[in-house]
Amino acid sequence: MKVDYGPFRLVYLMQNIRTKGISAMTQSRVLALVGSLRSGAVSRQLADTASHVAPAGTEVVVFEGLENVPFYNPDIDDADAPIPAVEALRSAAGAADALLLVTPEYNGTIPAVLKNAIDWISRPYGNGAVAGKPVAVISSSPSQNGAQWAHADTRKAVGVAGGRVLEDVSISVGGTGAKFGDKHPRENAEVAGQIAGIVTELVSASRGELLSA
Ligand SMILES: Cc1cc2nc3c(=O)[nH]c(=O)nc-3n(C[C@H](O)[C@H](O)[C@H](O)COP(=O)(O)O)c2cc1C
Repeated sequence: MKVDYGPFRLVYLMQNIRTKGISAMTQSRVLALVGSLRSGAVSRQLADTASHVAPAGTEVVVFEGLENVPFYNPDIDDADAPIPAVEALRSAAGAADALLLVTPEYNGTIPAVLKNAIDWISRPYGNGAVAGKPVAVISSSPSQNGAQWAHADTRKAVGVAGGRVLEDVSISVGGTGAKFGDKHPRENAEVAGQIAGIVTELVSASRGELLSA
């Protein structure tokens, strides 16, 4: 079952934040990994929307440089010869309280660039940067199904990698062309509200709380 983060749901979440005493002063960091390298990618815009709508005390940082991360190869995964782009990814993921994966769908599944990032942060086995971190997935597509295959495969991969996937905290945005037109997704109140809810849930999960129960 997916959580409905409509406007009323957001009010509920904000009430939870107050009643459960989450301090707005406490800084939490969510790292967003984007599965599209395309300039003007809707996926990137959705990640930027998460930065824009993050509640006070929470920072959503969109990772820059996934295109510089080589394909995972155990032969080059050598602590004595670190690769700067990989170190940057691992250290950003390691420093984050939670991860937000934002993906389009390529040929019915997760784009290689995002899968590759997951592979790098899954290692060392059992102790990768993703291990135990709350993770949520947002997918989008111009088609009506909202890249749900990529969504499901991203959740599966990051879960196997050791992430703590918040199963009920996710959205698949379909029909992006008609929905957003020339406008940025952050201007779409429904989508921006849903993304705000996801960020709130991620932060809550990283603190051991559960808002969506
Ligand atoms: C190689 C490739 C494969 C694609 N395969 C799918 C697909 O399986 N399902 C789908 O809904 N869209 C598919 N698309 C279309 C993408 O959903 C569309 O390009 C989308 O805008 C990409 O997201 P972005 O705006 O974040 O880059 C594909 C696009 C490319 C470039």
